Amino acid sequence: MILEVINLTKAFESEGTKILANNNISFKVYEGEILGILGANGAGKTTLIKQIATLLIPDSGDILYRGTSIVKHPEVIRGRFSFLQEGMRNVYPYLTAEANLLYFAYLNHIPARVAKNKSEELLKRMGLYEVKDNYVYTFSSGMNKKLAIATCLINDPETVFLDEPFSGLDLIASIELMDFLRSLVMESGKTFLIADHRLDFIEKVANRVLWIKDGNVVMEGSTVEMKTIRKEKEFIIYLQNSIETQNALKEKDVEFQVLSDEVLKVEVSLDRKDYLSIIISNFDVLNIEKKELDFEAIFKELYSRAKNN
Ligand SMILES: Nc1ncnc2c1ncn2[C@@H]1O[C@H](COP(=O)(O)OP(=O)(O)O)[C@@H](O)[C@H]1O
Ligand SMILES: [Mg+2]
Repeated sequence: MILEVINLTKAFESEGTKILANNNISFKVYEGEILGILGANGAGKTTLIKQIATLLIPDSGDILYRGTSIVKHPEVIRGRFSFLQEGMRNVYPYLTAEANLLYFAYLNHIPARVAKNKSEELLKRMGLYEVKDNYVYTFSSGMNKKLAIATCLINDPETVFLDEPFSGLDLIASIELMDFLRSLVMESGKTFLIADHRLDFIEKVANRVLWIKDGNVVMEGSTVEMKTIRKEKEFIIYLQNSIETQNALKEKDVEFQVLSDEVLKVEVSLDRKDYLSIIISNFDVLNIEKKELDFEAIFKELYSRAKNN
């Protein structure tokens, strides 16, 4: 275990009202994993990361880094992590890509020759070597983000905190960044905390997810667990409506909806292959559709499960 957050609480005063940004949050982070911190805007993700990054002091609770309290001894984590803050202002637009990296290396007291090699290696890894002498203001959002991530790696940190790394990226750039992050973690063995509001991104990039809502942890689990929830009712099958079909479905305990005199609708998940084969072999199938992902439904489902646990 690399990090342990214990009963962390942080409140803010805003115009006379108290906002509990983090309410008694506890969780663990294991070495070499990507922990996704999922939550809507205002859930408390940034507040949480800032406390781990020793930029905010908790009201109560503790954060242990390899067993030592960073609240009492912030020096045990400083210099060992990198933090990509929200937004696009993590790199300098009027410096070239390489100059940005060399500058961050300089701030981290990395000797010039080592910095030069390390920055070339990172530029190649990020696919930015060909544009290393270009000013960053000419870069696309995706290139900008990759460079920002490279600046987070120049000091060879043990852990990397990325706050909304996909914001401002189009879908293609986001997917590219997700693939990239996953392979980076596999290669580097570093530990990543990635905060984002999108379940589909977090699910693809993280091994485990901590879902927070209004400052509270509502769920902690593996992404595999989330994928099983997603799989539920994955297909919609339209059947020719008839009394016989309805009776046969009832007999087999298959739920259905009557859409019209002609059409019945049945929702089936891939894990219920028994249902699928019964339906396809016994009934007059008009059409099969893959169901659109309903994230709100997934959230609600997870939320009610978390409450019932
Ligand atoms: N410096 C601050 N002063 C007052 N309220 C704040 C401050 N920072 C965050 N908050 C409030 O705390 C809550 C959590 O914010 P934040 O951690 O930024 O959430 P997220 O990153 O998940 O969007 C929000 O209600 C936000 O308005
Ligand atoms: Mg935030």
